[in-house]
Amino acid sequence: MTILVTGAAGFIGSNFVLDWLAQSDETVINLDDLTYAGNLENLASLDGDARHIFIKGSIGDFDLVAKLLAEHQPRAVVNFAAESHVDRSIHGPEDFIQTNIVGTFRLLEAVRAFYGQLEKTAKNQFRFLHVSTDEVYGSLAKDDPAFTETHQYEPNSPYSASKAASDHLVRAYHHTYGLPVLTTNCSNNYGPYHFPEKLIPLVIHNALAGKPLPIYGDGQQIRDWLYVKDHCSAIRRVLEAGRLGETYNVGGWNEKPNLDVVHTLCAILDELSPRADGKAYKEQITYVTDRPGHDRRYAIDATKIERELGWKPAETFETGIKKTVQWYLDNQGWVANVTSGAYREWLGKQYGESK
Ligand code: NAD
Ligand code: TYD
Repeated sequence: MTILVTGAAGFIGSNFVLDWLAQSDETVINLDDLTYAGNLENLASLDGDARHIFIKGSIGDFDLVAKLLAEHQPRAVVNFAAESHVDRSIHGPEDFIQTNIVGTFRLLEAVRAFYGQLEKTAKNQFRFLHVSTDEVYGSLAKDDPAFTETHQYEPNSPYSASKAASDHLVRAYHHTYGLPVLTTNCSNNYGPYHFPEKLIPLVIHNALAGKPLPIYGDGQQIRDWLYVKDHCSAIRRVLEAGRLGETYNVGGWNEKPNLDVVHTLCAILDELSPRADGKAYKEQITYVTDRPGHDRRYAIDATKIERELGWKPAETFETGIKKTVQWYLDNQGWVANVTSGAYREWLGKQYGESK
């Protein structure tokens, strides 16, 4: 058996493939366009492993996807491929529209054509799992209940709007064409192979480099944080037993204001890799201009996936974040490779750092 995983050279997709092949011999076809966020080094431990087949290409390339589906006859498609960074979507929304909306549409079209000609048994087994975000639901006030699956979609950034559009397309392909789809809406992930443009890896990286730790606005925005391997186990579980056409919210029950997250990271670094001058890393914290349209709070109610599928996160924030900091300390070579070149241009654009 085979599955097709898109965007599997990125942060979550690569963790998903590594975990998948650690517990199954089912081949993974990895379709990734290797944008700035895609990095095959994440999958270096699979070099020479015949169970991982990498194809460079876009989910928006109908002919390529159709060819891959015909050739490998996967029993499932798991769609991670996306532009994923809110700040980049503010600077330039076009790529988000192209990949997240048009790309998902073309992928769905290719999958629809493939699914249509499958035999009955293969049809019954086939799944299209779309990986999405809690950001499609918009922003919560401090005391609002957490997002459930029936919460209204109110996306506020070009990123979340493009993900919301893709979720709607996936839903429509189920209702209109009977495509056997599943959608997961997950909160903020953190863990190994996280590109250092997002808050947690950026803060670890900047702290160790002696650079400012940029806090947008007052730092009191709240996110729910989930260790990436818990997200991967949730996706495996939904793929295995999720009800067709349903959406499942995935979260860590770990709501934290950004400033608390940064203080926690600084305290762990003080312990594991103290500054040479003996000072605390939190002295590097710097308040910067807020993100335009910055969502104040996200919170996930993950009751449905627990009740229906028995899934719960294995890590608490405290255990997951310590593992994550340790991973970055142990993998400075990976960080050095991904932060060369184009990454510097991004820092110039977003934080005004000179290249
Ligand atoms: P990422 O930016 O690290 O990786 C995205 C991957 O997709 C990269 O490998 C990139 O090369 C690839 N890609 C981009 N455009 C492509 C295209 N047109 N065709 C094929 N591949 C393409 O993202 P991530 O953080 O790993 O997120 C993966 C998915 O999970 C996304 O759909 C994102 O919306 C969703 N998600 C992310 C989070 C999070 O906290 N990171 C939370 C919830 C949901
Ligand atoms: P991010 O990791 O970009 O994820 P998202 O915007 O998808 O939630 O940001 C997490 C939070 O951290 C968000 O509220 C924005 C904030 N943030 C900062 O305060 N400083 C930074 O340099 C970055 C990248 C994010």
